[in-house]
Amino acid sequence: MERLQKVIAQAGVTSRRKAEKLILDGQVKVNGSVVTELGTKVSPSDEIEVNGVPIDKEEPVYFLFYKPSGVISSVKDEKGRKVVTDYFPDIEQRIFPVGRLDYDTSGLLILTNDGDFANTLMHPKYHVEKRYVAKVKGIPSKLEIRQLSKGIMLDDGKTAPAKVKMKSLDKKKQTAIIELTIHEGRNRQVRRMFEALGYPVQKLKREGYGNLDLRGLNPGDSRTMTPHEVKQLRNLAVT
Ligand code: URA
Repeated sequence: MERLQKVIAQAGVTSRRKAEKLILDGQVKVNGSVVTELGTKVSPSDEIEVNGVPIDKEEPVYFLFYKPSGVISSVKDEKGRKVVTDYFPDIEQRIFPVGRLDYDTSGLLILTNDGDFANTLMHPKYHVEKRYVAKVKGIPSKLEIRQLSKGIMLDDGKTAPAKVKMKSLDKKKQTAIIELTIHEGRNRQVRRMFEALGYPVQKLKREGYGNLDLRGLNPGDSRTMTPHEVKQLRNLAVT
């Protein structure tokens, strides 16, 4: 038995908070009767309707995917470019990516059909660490590395403190490999942080997401997440 608002959110209808409002507003029926009590428990055999439309109950599934660069973090693309769900041709559930990586960014992406889980992970209030490795043109100084870690001003505000590590540098080519761990998820944030200091990102990969990493996977590979990983990640997100 699960709480009604959780089941609605899990079906991808809306967030859990908005599902609570729908319930309180009398827009949810269980087995034909309006239910306005939050926390009502339902079982898989119960018929749930939101605004008169039955919800699709699907088993929640969770995948860890190594996105290659040159793929859109979406379920479809108007221009016909390759999208992440093209890598899951045999999955019947309607999975979607949790957040996005740029077209040119490779690395760890979670796909799920659990809207509630996705909303929790993407909520700006919560703090799941994302670890990126960037190859940049130019070699940032120690002071600039410190600036990045303290937070720098972008056009949408100052970035939160980050962990920054210089991994290697190539003086001849004038490039550097830098690891950056952030918990915010602003659009093109890592690229913009380096660009703000005058170091264009040539290559970007997300190597870690909370408790997860890419161990054992090659670009284009995926694996199902273990129930323990799902639970751990949910806990990491809300603490
Ligand atoms: N930051 C970026 O700039 N791009 C990504 O894809 C992810 C984080």
